[in-house]
Amino acid sequence: MANTKLIRRCIVFMLALSLVLSDKFVGGRRIGTKESKELDKPHKGTVKTIQGKDGDVIDCVDIYQQPAFDHPLLKNHTIQMESSSIPNVTNGESYNAELFQGWHVNGECPEGTIPIRNSRADEYYAPHTTPQVTLEQDYVAGYEYATAYMEKGHFYGANAYLNLWNPVINDGHLSTSQIWILSGTLSDTNMIEVGWQVTTLSKEPELFIFWTRDNGKVGCLNLNCPGFVQTSRRIALGSSLSPVSRYMGSQFEIGITIYKSYGNWYLRVQNEVLGYWPRSLFTNLAAVGEKVMWGGTVYSSGTKDGSHTSAQMGSGSFPNEGFGKASYIRNLQYMNGDGTFEDADKGLRTFATRPACYNISLENNKKGAYRTHFYFGGPGFSIACP
Ligand SMILES: *[C@@H]1O[C@H](CO)[C@@H](O)[C@H](O)[C@H]1NC(C)=O
Ligand SMILES: *[C@@H]1O[C@H](CO)[C@@H](O)[C@H](O)[C@H]1NC(C)=O
Ligand SMILES: *[C@@H]1O[C@H](CO)[C@@H](O)[C@H](O)[C@H]1NC(C)=O
Repeated sequence: MANTKLIRRCIVFMLALSLVLSDKFVGGRRIGTKESKELDKPHKGTVKTIQGKDGDVIDCVDIYQQPAFDHPLLKNHTIQMESSSIPNVTNGESYNAELFQGWHVNGECPEGTIPIRNSRADEYYAPHTTPQVTLEQDYVAGYEYATAYMEKGHFYGANAYLNLWNPVINDGHLSTSQIWILSGTLSDTNMIEVGWQVTTLSKEPELFIFWTRDNGKVGCLNLNCPGFVQTSRRIALGSSLSPVSRYMGSQFEIGITIYKSYGNWYLRVQNEVLGYWPRSLFTNLAAVGEKVMWGGTVYSSGTKDGSHTSAQMGSGSFPNEGFGKASYIRNLQYMNGDGTFEDADKGLRTFATRPACYNISLENNKKGAYRTHFYFGGPGFSIACP
């Protein structure tokens, strides 16, 4: 049973790879070389291995032997264990203060280690790319977006609660809900992405991070290649998040805050500082972000009959269905040069590649606990979206 699943995963992965592999999105340096159906060997520096409930295997890796330190720019890097001043954000109440990842059922990573998910084939399939919101014609083929953004500014951080759903997708597709911070021109865009994603091979939404400094020509998902320095022993990148929201039922969400401190870009998930991207990784983003963006993407490698993909974005419902039905992103805030978070309000614009397939709707009521927020998503293929 487990074996069949692995073989299927492998076949799907090879298909996905042959469909999507181009120099536009090479998610990590080892893409295309993975053939094994077996789990990888434990990561270098593994002191303990934890078997997750959902097939995840987590290696607890000595924090000083994590992948980041394989990066030539980080050879002499000293870990910044805690950002000294975690900025305050206005988040209102949270629907699930305790972020849950299945592997915690079977153990914890000891002090001095970080959890790294033992790679599955799909970790090497990382079709993230840089959306150029000022040049709409440059949206890369196969990608659809429904986003809200601010541009031509000086952004030192971004914050939001992402409503957590498990959209249904097809083979070779990707659906995300996320935050972006970008800087630079088309050829040298520096970018950080954080959010949840569902890929062909994931059964539940997974926490992901991504960074690039050359507009996605070389991009790095999670800890698959060196760069991000993880400091938390509680949250595993690439591992599933639960519980997910139900249509007209309980709603769940994750709080994400990205903020610049002493030059580095820190990431906080819920109340836990997960780690940071050292300043030295970046060119443009070493200084400041010029754009911040929140929203959803769907990537489609194409359908057999050429019709639009039926991969869902968000919850799969259109924004006009509203709370409990459509997926939301709330408490949109950015950090200004004083290190203070402000509501993303003036200058916030929306963009949807094909509103008849996936749409976005900014809500006018900004006074409640949700402050600046929007609904986004859709079902993809329909009569209106052929
Ligand atoms: C690391 O330190 C060594 C010895 O001080 C130095 O030669 C090297 O240039 C440093 N590397 C980086 C990337 O700073
Ligand atoms: C955050 O808010 C708390 C409570 O209002 C305050 O004590 C603290 O100094 C604030 N932190 C920052 C970094 O502004
Ligand atoms: C998309 O959403 C906007 C904002 O709510 C709305 O005005 C527009 O009619 C929607 N478009 C479609 C095709 O549903």
